[in-house]
Amino acid sequence: MTIFEAYNSTKKRLEAVGIKDYVFEAKQIIMHVTGLKAAQILTDYNNQLTQFQENNLIALIHQREVHYPLQYIFGSWDFYGRPFKVGVGVLIPRSDTETVVEQSLEILKNTESPKVLDLCAGSGCIGITIDLEISDAKVTMIEKFDEALRYATENITLNNSSATVLKGDIFEKPQFENEIFDLIVSNPPYIPQNEMKYCSHEVKFEPETALLAEDEGLEFYKAIIKNYTPCLKVGGSFCFEVGFKQAEKVSELLNQNGFKDIKIKNDLNGIGRAVSGTK
Ligand SMILES: C[S@@+](CC[C@H](N)C(=O)[O-])C[C@H]1O[C@@H](n2cnc3c(N)ncnc32)[C@H](O)[C@@H]1O
Repeated sequence: MTIFEAYNSTKKRLEAVGIKDYVFEAKQIIMHVTGLKAAQILTDYNNQLTQFQENNLIALIHQREVHYPLQYIFGSWDFYGRPFKVGVGVLIPRSDTETVVEQSLEILKNTESPKVLDLCAGSGCIGITIDLEISDAKVTMIEKFDEALRYATENITLNNSSATVLKGDIFEKPQFENEIFDLIVSNPPYIPQNEMKYCSHEVKFEPETALLAEDEGLEFYKAIIKNYTPCLKVGGSFCFEVGFKQAEKVSELLNQNGFKDIKIKNDLNGIGRAVSGTK
């Protein structure tokens, strides 16, 4: 089978099972299987796949046909231009979450050697990115589940980050002293159970513990504000990722708890995605 044939048949099979970005995905899959760069797929289209590459391609298409996430198949996905290892048991980093990183960097732009806490760290994509974008930042991350914790640890090493990750549950008393952080950032689980039916097939392969939240999706924000406000310095900020239509509600929670300078930043689709407020 030539690269051209492999690319075309991959596109057709992904399209047939309703994968929206089948052209993009087919290209990514051929690049993954052959090790070629995007441009080489066009120039080397007449080259033959090896038997090993062909078998690998068939296995990979089978997985994708049942909507197993492409990111889990590859085992790695880019976030803010850096690779993050992913697999079953950890949330795949989303481009929406880059909005939260941008908002965090804006908040910290005039703070020297900022101390940052990333709650519900998952792959570590937020905490590790902030650590690498601000060279003198000191970033600590908290994650409850072992599988995700393992990915965060691997991603620290993969990206040569000096962030640290600890096991912890945000519903319990924090393991930190008062008033030590300049920023507490979090992308917690926020999907109400009754909205799971609107999620894609792919999302259903991700851990429910990373997605679902009680109390209309607000329980984590309430717990974090209650438990972690004492850990923020005066003048320090919370910065949260929020779900669809949650920005106003989370802003109101911050307002009710005495936070000032509350800001909502939209993602690339124009949806309020990051909410921050200052103590
Ligand atoms: C929405 S994911 C976010 C992961 C990562 N921060 C990101 O942006 O991709 C939420 C994370 O919270 C973790 N988590 C769930 N319940 C938790 C708890 N009670 N305490 C700490 N972490 C928790 C999940 O395991 C998951 O990794």
